[in-house]
Amino acid sequence: MLNEAIAALQVNPDGHYIDATFGRGGHSRLLLSKLSALGRLTAFDKDLDAIAEAKTIVDPRFSIRHEGFMHLGQLPAASAAGVLMDLGVSSPQIDNPVRGFSFRQEGPLDMRMDTTRGQSVAEWLADASIESMAEVIRDYGEERFAGQIAKAIDRRRQERGPLGTTAELAEVVAGAVKTREPGKDPATRTFQALRIFINAELEELQQALEASLKVLQPGGRLVVISFHSLEDRIVKQFIATHSREVFDRRAPFAAPKAMKLNALGRTKPSEEEVASNPRSRSAVMRVAERTGVLE
Ligand SMILES: C[S@@+](CC[C@H](N)C(=O)[O-])C[C@H]1O[C@@H](n2cnc3c(N)ncnc32)[C@H](O)[C@@H]1O
Repeated sequence: MLNEAIAALQVNPDGHYIDATFGRGGHSRLLLSKLSALGRLTAFDKDLDAIAEAKTIVDPRFSIRHEGFMHLGQLPAASAAGVLMDLGVSSPQIDNPVRGFSFRQEGPLDMRMDTTRGQSVAEWLADASIESMAEVIRDYGEERFAGQIAKAIDRRRQERGPLGTTAELAEVVAGAVKTREPGKDPATRTFQALRIFINAELEELQQALEASLKVLQPGGRLVVISFHSLEDRIVKQFIATHSREVFDRRAPFAAPKAMKLNALGRTKPSEEEVASNPRSRSAVMRVAERTGVLE
């Protein structure tokens, strides 16, 4: 949804934009092509390969930050004409076995977007309790067999030592998942869950959405593309919460707090896009506009 997302930003050529998820820079490059000499683009990414790619853009209007997008609130208040978030992992991350995101390719069990900090999945699984493994796999993978998978990981740790590779984890999960979902590898949900957990994806998304309210100027657009229902639920609820007037029940006669966003709807990728890029099939784009009411 490259063109749709940039169209949804309704780019003001002189505006300052934020691309919260640079990736390989598809959205950033298109956005830059719409800006005048006065326009600015600040991009974020946690991934070192994304940062290396961003450094190849030599353009005084562009800057890249190697940090989580929850830090976008550090930008000046009401300074941005638009914030774009294209959530999740990038294709280069999934396709590189060394990153450990894919159960289809053998690699170290890492899954960190930012490999310069934090624990890898292998490190976490080495001594996480059965209860916390089950909770993560159930809550972030919506996996019915979370308890059985957690016990199977623990059994395997005790018998043969900690899990080190994606193939080892996929094998343990396949042995614990008793019914197969058509067309879905049994490891899909567990890998998704561990990736979301190890990168604190949902917490960072919530914080970045709150921060976007501060940095967007009145009329500025928030455009978020999410790839699974847990992310989309957070975005949907966030927009819904800020798209209505809030009454304080303790002060029934006080004027309600005015709404901070106008919800502008949701879009799914076209059939052609899904045909040419099957990974886009679960994408949902939500758009909202900052109202004139500031904090
Ligand atoms: C789907 S890709 C973005 C693709 C990009 N729009 C493009 O055109 O190439 C998501 C990117 O967001 C980054 N990312 C995910 N969560 C992040 C976070 N909390 N903070 C910063 N970057 C994040 C990932 O490292 C990945 O490079």
